[in-house]
Amino acid sequence: MGSLERTILVTGGAGFIGTHTVVQLLKEGFSVSILDNLDNSVLEAVDRVRELVGPKLSQKLEFNLGDLRKKEDIENLFSRTRFDAVIHFAGLKAVGESVAFPRRYFDNNLVGTINLYEVMAKYDCKKMVFSSSATVYGQPEKIPCVEDFELVALNPYGRTKLFLEEIARDIQKAEPGWGIILLRYFNPVGAHESGTIGEDPKGIPNNLMPYIQQVAVGRLPELNVYGHDYPTKDGSAVRDYIHVMDLADGHIAALRKLFTNEDIGCTAYNLGTGQGTSVLEMVAAFEKASGKKIPIKLCRRRPGDATAVYASTEKAKKELGWTAKYGVEEMCRDQWKWASSNPWGYQKKP
Ligand code: NAD
Ligand code: UFG
Repeated sequence: MGSLERTILVTGGAGFIGTHTVVQLLKEGFSVSILDNLDNSVLEAVDRVRELVGPKLSQKLEFNLGDLRKKEDIENLFSRTRFDAVIHFAGLKAVGESVAFPRRYFDNNLVGTINLYEVMAKYDCKKMVFSSSATVYGQPEKIPCVEDFELVALNPYGRTKLFLEEIARDIQKAEPGWGIILLRYFNPVGAHESGTIGEDPKGIPNNLMPYIQQVAVGRLPELNVYGHDYPTKDGSAVRDYIHVMDLADGHIAALRKLFTNEDIGCTAYNLGTGQGTSVLEMVAAFEKASGKKIPIKLCRRRPGDATAVYASTEKAKKELGWTAKYGVEEMCRDQWKWASSNPWGYQKKP
């Protein structure tokens, strides 16, 4: 069966990574049903996806407002549609907020996912691509991070990812009919090259690139650089930034693997570029792409941050046939296109 006849449920499909992945899924010929409660996203993002792919492909996209914590919202969908697989993005992801409100994180991320497994099992849909994170490597002693490293959690958000990985492994072990791919994202940035969809965090951004973006468009005065005394080339911390369109394509590769390998079991793959870039290098690359000066303030390290984290890309390359195509220059170029044409994200200027 080709992608033309396959229908994919995308939870959290209105969010940052979700919207970009839905575009690629539709372009690849899949039918897509989004389930999202719009807790951290807006319907305008889904409308933009429709505009981007055009009227013909839009017919294969359905949006459903619903919450994974309510089993009946999931059940409603499965009772109407036969899904061939689920890509499960829906979740809360702010590390600091998870420390302040752990129950909210455990309820949303754990209960929501367990409900999803229950309904999938009931309707015999047993193929799942799950959004994990490089956070499961904690502060790695060795880099690059390899999939078989020991895993740790440093905060409640990380704990939800770690627990959900373990839950996936247990379910698949007990019920071998499941095929589950755990994708460990490194640092997703950038935007669709059209500049019509991108990341639009609510409130003050926690993450580096959305923050830089808001300084560049004048919404924030300066960037706080957290840490300038790390043992790295320029003293700032090093991460593996990955273009969100590469990440989206990684999900297509994972789906194809699930559809062609009945014995995939429960397997984790890193999605990163394998390249480490420092905070100051990222600032310089964004200044170059945007032509804007980004004022910085050198600050103390952010508690809990690792010095340097980047991925080993071998396993995804060998087993999924996937590698990242884009570098930091394209990430900044596309993010600037999104930022300059949508300085206030999906909203009109307040
Ligand atoms: P996002 O917040 O933009 O998207 C998540 C979407 O899920 C949102 O649209 C939100 O409304 C929805 N959602 C949340 N809880 C829900 C629920 N109970 N029911 C229905 N919908 C719900 O985040 P994103 O950056 O696109 O991240 C997607 C996934 O990838 C998350 O699981 C996140 O933890 C993971 N991840 C993200 C990053 C990153 O830096 N962006 C890194 C590693 C892993
Ligand atoms: N940073 C700044 N100033 C800021 C924001 C960030 O200097 O205003 C620095 C951080 O200290 C860190 C680097 O930029 O050194 C990257 O920080 P991010 O917050 O963008 O990303 P993290 O690597 O800390 O974590 C992100 C997500 C996690 C996820 C992880 C791996 O927030 O949820 O990527 O995928 F687990």
